[in-house]
Amino acid sequence: MTFSSSLRSPSLKMLSLVTAEMEPPAPYHLLTSVVAPRPIAWVSTISAEGISNIAPYSFFNAVAGFPPTIMFSVSYRRREPKEKDTLRNVKAVGEFVCHVVDEALCGEMVKTAVDLPRDMSEFEATGLETLPATEVKPPRLKDAPVAMECKVTQIVPVEGATNVMVLGQVLRFHIRQDLYRQSLGLVDTVKMQPITRLGGPVEYTKIGELIHLSTPQNLA
Ligand SMILES: Cc1cc2nc3c(=O)[nH]c(=O)nc-3n(C[C@H](O)[C@H](O)[C@H](O)COP(=O)(O)O)c2cc1C
Repeated sequence: MTFSSSLRSPSLKMLSLVTAEMEPPAPYHLLTSVVAPRPIAWVSTISAEGISNIAPYSFFNAVAGFPPTIMFSVSYRRREPKEKDTLRNVKAVGEFVCHVVDEALCGEMVKTAVDLPRDMSEFEATGLETLPATEVKPPRLKDAPVAMECKVTQIVPVEGATNVMVLGQVLRFHIRQDLYRQSLGLVDTVKMQPITRLGGPVEYTKIGELIHLSTPQNLA
């Protein structure tokens, strides 16, 4: 580890860490505390045998607008079976539903991160209520403020990593009516209050103070 002075405030020292010299999983923990808050994709899938599954993924974001496309990234387990059920299901069926997690649902969300045997559905284990999706086979959560029905477009191994990135095109949005700002075509994200993830295993947050910033037309 090396130190130098921060440019803005010389009294604040900067640390410099070389990831290749860090003991795993330290780089992972550091990264997730820096790239934060991360939204949580609560992803429902279904197996070829018809067993439905739901699990949270915070390596998640929007990656394209036209057509609307999202990604989430699934790590391999260290133990067998290495492939998580979500990845196995999206490979087999090519579809998923991505839900937003709000405060009312976050207790149930963490329960669905528990490793269950492949033939057991988190929906039965938790009692979460579902509805049939319209465009895809996996069920959607009845109480999620937003659900996005997606078809898988790409499954991309992350170079040198034990992760696989799943990209999906959003075919249909389900939005709780009170959250939709029709004139703007936006969800009221502050009202929705999605739960987002910080670093480490237990830290989450909600949206704090709203600030407005306009991108200037030029730098003059
Ligand atoms: C908030 C949260 C975020 C998570 N994000 C990820 C992630 O981005 N990638 C991943 O592989 N696992 C992530 N996990 C762990 C998975 O949810 C967990 O391994 C789950 O059991 C996988 O379920 P499955 O085998 O049914 O697919 C996360 C867990 C929590 C609680």
